[in-house]
Amino acid sequence: MVSLCVLILCCNKFEAFPIEVCTLENLQVFDLSTNQIQNIPSDICNLKRIQKLNISSNQFIYFPIELCQLQSLEELNINQINGRKARNLYFWPWREVGIGGDKNLNCSVCVDISNNVIREIPRNIGELRSLVSLNAYNNQIRYLPPFFLCLHDLQQLNFSGNNLTYLPRGIHNLFSLKEINFDDNTLLRPPMEICKGKQLYTIAHYLERADK
Ligand SMILES: *[C@@H]1O[C@H](CO)[C@@H](O)[C@H](O)[C@H]1NC(C)=O
Ligand SMILES: *[C@@H]1O[C@H](CO)[C@@H](O)[C@H](O)[C@H]1NC(C)=O
Ligand SMILES: *[C@@H]1O[C@H](CO)[C@@H](O)[C@H](O)[C@H]1NC(C)=O
Ligand SMILES: *[C@@H]1O[C@H](CO)[C@@H](O)[C@H](O)[C@H]1NC(C)=O
Repeated sequence: MVSLCVLILCCNKFEAFPIEVCTLENLQVFDLSTNQIQNIPSDICNLKRIQKLNISSNQFIYFPIELCQLQSLEELNINQINGRKARNLYFWPWREVGIGGDKNLNCSVCVDISNNVIREIPRNIGELRSLVSLNAYNNQIRYLPPFFLCLHDLQQLNFSGNNLTYLPRGIHNLFSLKEINFDDNTLLRPPMEICKGKQLYTIAHYLERADK
């Protein structure tokens, strides 16, 4: 058992986190999505090799800070389309030593926090330098914090269905961005029409001119 690398327990009716899983120190992929789980034990930090963790669509009441000690983690899915929506992700901020941390300078981190009721992106998200994909659609996010613009590796960003009213002028600093989606926000600056084309260049160009 200890050598198990992949464990798929999705779509069961688990109400409790299967605590034995925390002894599987070679586990790399763990899918616990679509269950009825309310709590994640702090022993989750024993999963020293975990790379992909899918805990979407559950009934979590809170997320333990230990989640941010999973330094090998590259893919985290907390999309709560069919689960209890989280207002705060208590393990944000992901510190430099946390997810995709300093031991994994070359890794690419993908995070999905969509379909929650999150209002704020933490200030220090910029420290998650290896973030390449962020799905945060259908939340209540009102603005992008300045440090967001340090995410130079970010390639894909989906913020559709949020409460953004303006985008930061320095958005051109996200120079790796290839796919963006700001649909269904209440954008004023730049106006929605500018964002419809989903082109970073068009958005950045508008913001630069608007400031002149
Ligand atoms: C995570 O689980 C959900 C629900 O079972 C599934 O739709 C999704 O594809 C999974 N995502 C990943 C990255 O494995
Ligand atoms: C990162 O990748 C480069 C090129 O692929 C390699 O030379 C380097 O050793 C890697 N660094 C780490 C910390 O893994
Ligand atoms: C972004 O999220 C919306 C859901 O709000 C979805 O319809 C769309 O396909 C997603 N786009 C990309 C590029 O992932
Ligand atoms: C976000 O927008 C929705 C719909 O327009 C609204 O019901 C909600 O109160 C807004 N939330 C915040 C935090 O502004």
